[in-house]
Amino acid sequence: MRVAVVLGTRPEIIKMSPLIRELKDRDIPYDVIHTGQHYDHEVSEIFFKELNLSPPEEHIGVGSGSQAEQTGKALMGLEKAYATLGSDIVLVQGDTNTVLAGALAAVKMDLKVGHVEAGLRSYDLRMPEEHNRRLTDHCSHHLFAPTEKSAEILRGEKVWGDIHVTGNTVIDACMQNMEIAQEKSRVDIPGEYVLVTAHRAENVDDRSVLKQFLDVFENIPGTKVYPIHPRAEKMFKHTGLYSKLKDITGMKLMKPQGYLEFLMLMKNARYILTDSGGIQEEATAPNIKKKVFVLRESTERPEAVDAGFAEVVGTNSDDILNAIDRFEQDGWKPEDCPYGDGRASERIVNIITG
Ligand code: UD1
Ligand code: UDP
Repeated sequence: MRVAVVLGTRPEIIKMSPLIRELKDRDIPYDVIHTGQHYDHEVSEIFFKELNLSPPEEHIGVGSGSQAEQTGKALMGLEKAYATLGSDIVLVQGDTNTVLAGALAAVKMDLKVGHVEAGLRSYDLRMPEEHNRRLTDHCSHHLFAPTEKSAEILRGEKVWGDIHVTGNTVIDACMQNMEIAQEKSRVDIPGEYVLVTAHRAENVDDRSVLKQFLDVFENIPGTKVYPIHPRAEKMFKHTGLYSKLKDITGMKLMKPQGYLEFLMLMKNARYILTDSGGIQEEATAPNIKKKVFVLRESTERPEAVDAGFAEVVGTNSDDILNAIDRFEQDGWKPEDCPYGDGRASERIVNIITG
């Protein structure tokens, strides 16, 4: 059996890295295929270096483009790559355009598909991620649900593949890399700070949302650390709001950080403001444990909310600032991590080899 591990963006590299490690340690033949959806050093190559991954066997070079262009190019490139490599089973992770293309190309070639992080739903059809994850779930043979809740959703939708609750590989990654991060990370922010990220299309492609975010940053006292995603940087510049962002008192804008650096930034933050999916999960890891204000109208990660880590606060600045005030006044008491015990990859490899 030859496994193709398909990835294309920052979170996929991070969340696939424990699985790649597991395949390697168990001498299972595998190839990594990078679609090239993310291509800048700081959202792609840096993670291969930091996480000790060999360069991908195939690189498709899809790059940026419209939703259809990106998905279409990846679909064609992946079809060729699977044929060249002689893949038998394809693993995709999450909800990006790379994931949908990876699954669709495979199923059309009669290859088996395993969807890692299956069964998440935001029920927000404005999000390309919601199309990608739904369609991928419905053409996968193995559905690796991170939690019982996501498995329940898949059963309710009557997907035809088999469903397994495995935990989320992001917790494996946090556990495997925190010690290394403590040794090697080179970011050092003196004193207390709030960590910020934002990149979701429905947020950063909308000037009125960016203005709400600026209002929030202006009203949070002290240091705000913001490693800015290329999409957000482009949109702040395009809308003429970048200089305003840069000039906010206490704003520490930086390029996207490596994973080891970002682990430390999360671990030492007072709290996190984000619209990221993965960061909502990482905040629940036993070695991070942080309050996350989710800058979105909905989340496909309700487990993080139920366990007291995440709070969906929308994109209106008053609502966001009120939620932060409540947290500052009342404190918080989260439960245990809902995303598993750090052994998701081991379970996934057991299933595909069993
Ligand atoms: C993609 C995923 C999103 C995921 C995110 C992780 C889809 C639909 N979206 O969003 O689910 O959360 O990755 O970070 O698959 N750009 C660069 N350099 C790069 C990559 C992108 O400058 O290396 C800029 C380009 O202007 C590009 C824009 O960012 O047009 C958006 O990139 P794209 O890959 O289309 O989507 P993301 O917003 O990164
Ligand atoms: N991350 C990182 N450097 C950064 C910001 C995020 O390494 O500057 C990591 C973070 O730890 C998480 C992943 O990137 O594992 C999240 O990626 P992103 O928010 O881009 O995508 P999403 O999870 O929303 O799909």
